[in-house]
Amino acid sequence: MTWLIIGASGQLGMSLMSVLTDRGIDCRGCNSGDVDITSDAMTMEYISSISPTVIVNTAAWTDVDGAESNVEKARAVNADGALHVAAAAKSVGSRLVHISTDYVFSGDSDIPWGIGDSHSPISVYGQTKAAGENSVLNTYPTGSYIFRTAWLYSRWGKNFVKTIISISTRDGESIKVVNDQFGQPTSALDLANQIVDSVCAHIPFGIYHATNSGQATWFEFATQILDLTGTPVERLIPVNSEQFKRVAKRPKFSVLNHDAWPVIGESGIQVPAMRDWRLALMSEMPEIIHQMEARQ
Ligand SMILES: NC(=O)c1ccc[n+]([C@@H]2O[C@H](COP(=O)([O-])OP(=O)(O)OC[C@H]3O[C@@H](n4cnc5c(N)ncnc54)[C@H](OP(=O)(O)O)[C@@H]3O)[C@@H](O)[C@H]2O)c1
Repeated sequence: MTWLIIGASGQLGMSLMSVLTDRGIDCRGCNSGDVDITSDAMTMEYISSISPTVIVNTAAWTDVDGAESNVEKARAVNADGALHVAAAAKSVGSRLVHISTDYVFSGDSDIPWGIGDSHSPISVYGQTKAAGENSVLNTYPTGSYIFRTAWLYSRWGKNFVKTIISISTRDGESIKVVNDQFGQPTSALDLANQIVDSVCAHIPFGIYHATNSGQATWFEFATQILDLTGTPVERLIPVNSEQFKRVAKRPKFSVLNHDAWPVIGESGIQVPAMRDWRLALMSEMPEIIHQMEARQ
């Protein structure tokens, strides 16, 4: 069994490589220098040459604001790239895990979004990721999983947790954080374990919501981060989205429901929903701090 991780230099890709290596599962990682998934021919040639048992496509244009002025570039990776990987996975018979996002939904709700809810993206990033989901499901429904995730952080790469810790180390600076967008902070390492558990258990193909459980605003997330680092939370100032303008619109409420979990795979093994986001943050925080200190 060989796994191919596309986007292995990203924070989810690094987490997957770490989890697979720790479990003794044969894995190979690639990024845009090895294969550019915007090229149909290159993707087909690369995947055919490896013929992996499982492919996880974590590669994406993830700059949500930058996508608004780079529509074609974002579409090339998030929509066309997803199609090329799905076509190649089908042609060699690999099982495919395609990673998607809560931003395929508008946020105009106060009920957690279901796996069958229609796409309603409000940003270019969300539109291109929704198109990617459609391409995968139209091209290879009999061998694909769509794992939608959200608000990722990890010890690797840039993310909100590291940003808040960095700002909090600067003397006296107050930190304005949005308090009217609700989502699910998610540990990339927990997500990587969920993907590996799910594929190894042979759960049915289809769409899954792979976020840590519970919900929070960015302000509540930041409060928890400072609490865990022993920094006074009074430094944090809650603001609303109007006071913290971004180029791309963000959903106000993008909490994903977990009704599809627990699920029993063909192997007879049950895979539960992912744990509460506070527990995940607590267990990952020491390693995040350790990595940040090592870089100073
Ligand atoms: N980050 C979040 O908060 C979040 C939230 C919801 C969903 N997601 C989804 O989760 C997945 C992983 O996100 P992440 O934060 O781990 O991403 P990331 O850190 O931004 O990494 C993206 C990866 O994609 C690769 N890539 C980009 N363009 C490529 C191309 N044309 N061909 C091949 N590889 C390419 C990059 O390789 P290079 O380094 O070589 O460019 C990099 O390894 C994505 O599908 C994203 O949409 C993320």
